[in-house]
Amino acid sequence: MCGIFGRVSTKDVVPSVVAGLRQLDYRGYDSVGVAFLRPEGMYLLRNVGPAVDLERRLQLKGFPTSTCGIGHTRWATHGGVSERNAHPHLSSNERVAVVHNGTIENYQRLRTELIALGHVFRSDTDTEVIPNLVQRALEHGAASLEDAVAEATSHIHGAYAVAVISIDHPNVIVAARNSSPLVAGMCTDGGVLLASDEAAIADLAGSILRLGDNEIITLRIQDGLTIRGQDKRATLARLQQPSVRAEDVALGDFETRMAQEIFTQPLSLAATIRSRVNPKDHSVRLGGIERVLQRVSDCRGITIVACGTSYYAALAGARLIESLARMPVHVKEASEFAYSDPILGYQDVVIGVSQSGETMDVIKALELAKVRGALVLGITNTNASAIARMVSAGVYLRVGPEFAVASTKAFSGQVTVFAMLAALLAEAGKRGVPTKTWSLIDDISRIPELVDETLLTHETVTRIARTYAHCKRMLFLGKGYGLPLALEGALKVTEIAYIDATAYGAGQLKHGPIALIEPGVPVVVIVPNDATLRTKVLSSVHEVYSRGGSVIAVASDAVMAGEDGQTITDTSAEVIVVPYVKDELAPVVYAPVVQMLALGLAEALGRNVDQPRNLAKSVTVE
Ligand code: F6R
Repeated sequence: MCGIFGRVSTKDVVPSVVAGLRQLDYRGYDSVGVAFLRPEGMYLLRNVGPAVDLERRLQLKGFPTSTCGIGHTRWATHGGVSERNAHPHLSSNERVAVVHNGTIENYQRLRTELIALGHVFRSDTDTEVIPNLVQRALEHGAASLEDAVAEATSHIHGAYAVAVISIDHPNVIVAARNSSPLVAGMCTDGGVLLASDEAAIADLAGSILRLGDNEIITLRIQDGLTIRGQDKRATLARLQQPSVRAEDVALGDFETRMAQEIFTQPLSLAATIRSRVNPKDHSVRLGGIERVLQRVSDCRGITIVACGTSYYAALAGARLIESLARMPVHVKEASEFAYSDPILGYQDVVIGVSQSGETMDVIKALELAKVRGALVLGITNTNASAIARMVSAGVYLRVGPEFAVASTKAFSGQVTVFAMLAALLAEAGKRGVPTKTWSLIDDISRIPELVDETLLTHETVTRIARTYAHCKRMLFLGKGYGLPLALEGALKVTEIAYIDATAYGAGQLKHGPIALIEPGVPVVVIVPNDATLRTKVLSSVHEVYSRGGSVIAVASDAVMAGEDGQTITDTSAEVIVVPYVKDELAPVVYAPVVQMLALGLAEALGRNVDQPRNLAKSVTVE
């Protein structure tokens, strides 16, 4: 949520700052801005809309040149979406510019104090106190911009990542962080840069340095990167190889990030299971949790905390662990758990699931779990993210960076990781039925090819999406492992097509939601492969059919029949035939269907698929 980019070089940095902001667009795109140091003073341009709009305005005005600049893509928290609330924000004397991610909890008090001291505020944001605090520190004897930023940040409470420039300190960027991510890098073609996201600097940085909490870093042309309070050698020793490569962030031949992330799932899931699953000896290895495996296996119970799509993946994960490893698992919405009074202690395990590894609700939930003494683990996609750093052990998804706001490959990766974890715990605890575990391991190793097969339904799904694009509501039904996928499908459709979509357990239909069924209402049904569950779901299909609803069945067999002998084809408006897989892995193998459906609906309605309204990737505020 919100993106920061900054660069200092002997050459012109303006094109790379703008390109960096385009790369960061997915973190927030309601407004964008840049500040460059120019010999005649501070150059500031801010615009409502995504980075391409700002680029167009820069083109019209004639691109400035500069060797030092910062930029920001915003997702509004404090203050509405407007040019004056867009970053960078200037100090009252307009000599300091700041970009900021996060929230400053004590900004109201600081603002009142600064106004009393004569500072002028021009926006409604919490950020604006920072350039004014820096200005004040510089006016009151701070020896350097770094000292001034140190003084300013000592007054602010909350989560932040900031980058600061000043016309009195040419060719220097000072950055600081607490909780919000920030990574600096040495450029392969000279100069230094920083961003809130490693992916934004993947094509420029030869080496990177991840800033720790409460650290302040100075970027200068002459001497590269220096962390405050550390000598040069210590700073250089922290430089690492980037974990995101330029090819990981390329769009390739796809028109949207979401399409790319859906259609490359066979490859990303192959990476998730590579060297972790061995069907030959039915073994699973998750190196990241080996050290704590016994404690997890012996624990009293597992609680999983997550939000949004990750929460739905966790629902599938809980079912997998309970069924395979016979251990009690609870799934909690992280934002609720963080402010509850959970019964937790040393004997318990809490797993935070988060694609970004930055979601504040999950961080807060894990903090509480730690305070209560539980063993805290993470399942995340982002190396060295806040969650990866705060947990005792964890598993990376390895699906590659996810840019589309609507999460897709992370969901299938998360369920795949849970399947591996369930098998591992079943074996470690000598629980469950070994043949069931072995058969699951065999199936996990086939996930990439099965997902590939599901993707072949693309044309059918797109045709169906076009047919129903103008519906006013859509329902999703599932049972057992199909329910988390139904919930995920409804979320995908809601967030990118803006169609009011809701998911229910198939058995729940008759307890209320059936009132919504009227002729033509599309109802997507994930049909289980388990014979008992299938019979139950087919009777829900019948209930919808007999009230005129249009069933869109996702089934591995178009001629499967219910108790009344009617086949799924008889009672459905559409059947999307997917490959057979045991229900445990249905949320992974059938995920592309609901993802492609959401994509097809959004495209048919002309929505901006990668930048749905009001949303942003990574919710780093509560
Ligand atoms: C939905 C979506 C969100 C995220 C949620 C958690 O497509 O992307 O619901 O799943 O904000 O994000 P992470 O997984 O980064 O914690």
